[in-house]
Amino acid sequence: MTLQLPDFPWDSLEPFALQAKAHPGGLLDLSVGSPVDPTPSVAIKALEYAAQAPSYPLTAGSQELRSAMVSWWQTQRNTGDLSLDEVIPSIGSKEMVGLLPTLLGLGAGDVVVIPEIAYPTYAIGAMVAAATVVTENNPEHWPVESKLVWINSPSNPTGEVLGLDYLHKAVSRARSLGAVLASDECYAQLHWDVDWSPSLLDERVTQGDRTRLLALYSLSKQSNLAGYRAGLVAGGDQLIAELLLARKHMGLIVPSPIQAVMSATLGDADHVDTQRERYRHRRTVLATALRAAGFRIDHSEAGLYLWVTKGQDDWEAVSWFSERGILVAPGSFYGVAGSQHVRVALTATDEAVSEAAKRLQA
Ligand SMILES: Cc1ncc(COP(=O)(O)O)c(C=O)c1O
Repeated sequence: MTLQLPDFPWDSLEPFALQAKAHPGGLLDLSVGSPVDPTPSVAIKALEYAAQAPSYPLTAGSQELRSAMVSWWQTQRNTGDLSLDEVIPSIGSKEMVGLLPTLLGLGAGDVVVIPEIAYPTYAIGAMVAAATVVTENNPEHWPVESKLVWINSPSNPTGEVLGLDYLHKAVSRARSLGAVLASDECYAQLHWDVDWSPSLLDERVTQGDRTRLLALYSLSKQSNLAGYRAGLVAGGDQLIAELLLARKHMGLIVPSPIQAVMSATLGDADHVDTQRERYRHRRTVLATALRAAGFRIDHSEAGLYLWVTKGQDDWEAVSWFSERGILVAPGSFYGVAGSQHVRVALTATDEAVSEAAKRLQA
């Protein structure tokens, strides 16, 4: 038996990357959301200090890390009081996204609901577990066979933020189905046109009842720690206990030096503010140039991407950008509903962003 997975979508961008590289000014890669700015010194110092690590780390996270995660969710995500049993770390958030259906014991006949335009790993995780994927945004239409529902706010790729109203409806429908509701919130601190991107675990949504609810966060983007693999998960204590048991058995453990980095980094808001302002500037430069080049920007009120369209086929648009030496991602990577958009990442240096703006306006 082999696992039947689709080709890795980014491989299909290779011919366009080659074309873009041939541009006399070189390639400007705005196709992936991989941070380019320095890792903050608070993280580097903590890593140096924690380099001695002869013993196995705790899968649940050190006491220090669990306290840091609890206070981060309470202060930054308005969850109200959380206990130490309602948080665990993950090895970046992608493994948790990919493995969640498996860790929950889902299989054939179970339905995993994902957004209509979505980060591809939600579907991959369901496929790995042999569950059925249904793409549906409207909670009223989530099927009765649903065992896990993913929501993603701010969205990758669209940047859409789900409001409290939607979150209320989602919780009440998931509860009536007996499904786990998992919210991927890894761009939550990077908001532009909204003051706040509410968490699924916001106490105005949960009223303190987090049963079968899960929220995922990541330090990759807000703290330039993608290379460290640092994710955090919070949710109802029983669900967290189930996940912890499976993760202990499987050795899904965050290395102790990274746990120390996470503890230190979660307590420092200043570097997040600095990073947000860097992205805000790049976003303004790119948005202005894209609009001047005739593109419309949809949603993009938060997150690390501009979701842009001229109404043409996404691959035609990818080709148009690559002729200018700029690589962007086709919207169809994220679902058929994205096939008239491209995703433009803000994760490039100021110099690259200003060069991209020049080429777009030339
Ligand atoms: C929506 C979404 N979820 C999860 C991830 C995974 O991030 P990481 O594994 O670095 O935490 C990404 C990365 O781009 C993402 O866009």
